[in-house]
Amino acid sequence: MCSMSGMSKAVKGKHVTGRRAVGLDIGTSGVRAAEISLGKGPATLARFGQVSLPVGAVRDGEIVDVAEVASAIRHLWSATKFRTKRVVVGVSNQKVVVRQVDLPWLPAEEFRKSLIYQVQDYIPMPVDQAILDFHPLEEFVNEAGGRMLRVLLVAASADMVNNTVAAVQKAGLAPVMIDLTPFALLRGLAQMDELGLSGAPAEALIDVGASITNIVVHQGGVPRFVRILLMGGGDITEAVAERMGLPMEQAESIKQQTGMREKPAEAAADSSQLTRVIETSGAAFVEEVRGSLDYYLAQPSSVDVKRIVLSGGGGQLRGLAARLALATRLPVELGSAMSTLRIGKVGLDATRLALVAPVASVSVGLAIGVAS
Ligand SMILES: Nc1ncnc2c1ncn2[C@@H]1O[C@H](COP(=O)(O)OP(=O)(O)OP(=O)(O)O)[C@@H](O)[C@H]1O
Ligand SMILES: [Mg+2]
Repeated sequence: MCSMSGMSKAVKGKHVTGRRAVGLDIGTSGVRAAEISLGKGPATLARFGQVSLPVGAVRDGEIVDVAEVASAIRHLWSATKFRTKRVVVGVSNQKVVVRQVDLPWLPAEEFRKSLIYQVQDYIPMPVDQAILDFHPLEEFVNEAGGRMLRVLLVAASADMVNNTVAAVQKAGLAPVMIDLTPFALLRGLAQMDELGLSGAPAEALIDVGASITNIVVHQGGVPRFVRILLMGGGDITEAVAERMGLPMEQAESIKQQTGMREKPAEAAADSSQLTRVIETSGAAFVEEVRGSLDYYLAQPSSVDVKRIVLSGGGGQLRGLAARLALATRLPVELGSAMSTLRIGKVGLDATRLALVAPVASVSVGLAIGVAS
């Protein structure tokens, strides 16, 4: 539904035909993959695994070191024994943009073909170097009486997509589709709840990674707004390391132990340097997320957002959910793609599953996108 069929043209090979698929999430801190099988009843998580990446192999959501990433993926495949080499891969970085655009209505195929002539003004890259796709939102008639189509336009740098494909192929896998990570997040998390009918209030799904934060506002499973922020939990760790003069690993564990205070007043009362560093960078992050939601809500076509669902490693920061709730005046819940999945023989006990659940939403959602 939300898959980037346009992007997949950059990939040789056929789409997954069976009802089994593997989603591959290449993040800053590691590569993760989920194998999903679909039969009767709920989708089954058949395999899940992750392997960490050396610092610098992926930066700001882009693969910098193809060899390192390929090697990590190879390790992941030999350690987890996925039953297929055909994968759908997510991308999310500053080389892909999603914009709401109103264009003259045309039948679907013609509309797709016309995109290249219509969208240059809306995207920050030359159209001939971009892979374009769209997700229809609604039809309407403009003031001049013209039939229009409002869409979420997706434009991805062809070089960036090709680089991602190259890393996956170098690992010996066959990428069958490249998808936008926020769309995968939507499929991974929106199913955890009754989806609501159109006309129902919207929900904001927020996946906080190490250096990328994906935001998708959806209504009844239909994406309304996407924002990719170039910030995440890694910024807080870096601030702690820099200001406190600590190595990254130590900064990471101190950050996790300390977290943010649930109430800003409590934070203000503590003048220790550690608190100040975490509070300053944490608050900047919260403000950025709030700003993105405000931007969406200021659009005339926006729908009321009723709650926030948080995922990703960075979303686990102590106090973050409470501070986001205060800043946005919305309830914030921690989401898990596992909650509605049947768990197959993944080889992970309940404790281990609970640990990986927050970082599994994207890979699960990528797999669901092609398996269904
Ligand atoms: N318990 C925790 N408390 C606070 N932060 C945590 C916790 N666990 C993980 N993190 C943070 O989560 C971040 C990594 O999240 P995640 O694994 O989702 O990112 P990624 O997918 O590898 O990166 P990205 O999506 O940005 O490319 C790190 O910044 C780490 O500090
Ligand atoms: Mg991530």
